Amino acid sequence: MSVESKVRSVTTATLAKMKHDGEKIAMLTAYDFTMAKIVDGAGIDLILVGDSAANVMAGHTTTLPITLDEIIYHASSVVRGVERAFVVVDMPFGTCSGDEKTALDAAIRIMKETGADGVKIEGGEEMLPCIKKVLAAGIPVMGHLGLTPQSIHQLGGYGLRAKEEAEAAKLLHDAQLLSEAGCFGLVMEKIPAALAERVTKSVAIPTIGIGAGAGCNGQVLVVHDMLGMNKGFKPKFLRQYADLHTIMTEAIGRYVGDVKEGSFPNAAEQY
Ligand code: KIV
Repeated sequence: MSVESKVRSVTTATLAKMKHDGEKIAMLTAYDFTMAKIVDGAGIDLILVGDSAANVMAGHTTTLPITLDEIIYHASSVVRGVERAFVVVDMPFGTCSGDEKTALDAAIRIMKETGADGVKIEGGEEMLPCIKKVLAAGIPVMGHLGLTPQSIHQLGGYGLRAKEEAEAAKLLHDAQLLSEAGCFGLVMEKIPAALAERVTKSVAIPTIGIGAGAGCNGQVLVVHDMLGMNKGFKPKFLRQYADLHTIMTEAIGRYVGDVKEGSFPNAAEQY
């Protein structure tokens, strides 16, 4: 099933110009229509339909279980709520692990069935054949280096990446390859700020950091985390802009109380 595909106000050209002009890029995740409408209306530049939906929306402990059909469901809901921002969708775990044609087929389904603007693919040099195949079809691709949660079983944990020189050098090399291949942007997750700044200065494309310091061209956070909906989760890089967990718990508690005591609905709230 294809959906209407339109070019929104923020494009890959807009993002490239923002890097050129030194204007910072603000990016957040969204997984549903209502949140996407709020995030877009607040002036965000880039919306990521992240595979973190597996954690945030479905309660899985890793991002691995989300399927192509599921990410397409989330992304098509998000796109219906967005007028301005560029919408990029994660290619789920496994879609880029095999041959290039499988990756291309998955990316084409995402573009056709959601109306999104591009896809994000985790990994560096080892993913280049798939990335190039998707790019050759005219689909914008964003890279993702550093902590790549789809490889969590190989990485062995969610700690800081590229602390050692060898891993830092590979990351810098991978970033250059992704930039030269034609990716429109690069997410760098949980790496030292000095390395992220070095990468940002050495590649032509905008870099977006999460736990990668202030030297990136932009920042991304998981929207539920920055709104304080995920109570126990407070890594050092996360700035919490609201305490929605407390606000929602209190509001729902008052509703429960009102229903129990019979004060809701009142005379004005019924037909
Ligand atoms: O899926 C996601 O939310 C992400 C961000 C952490 C960048 O990839």
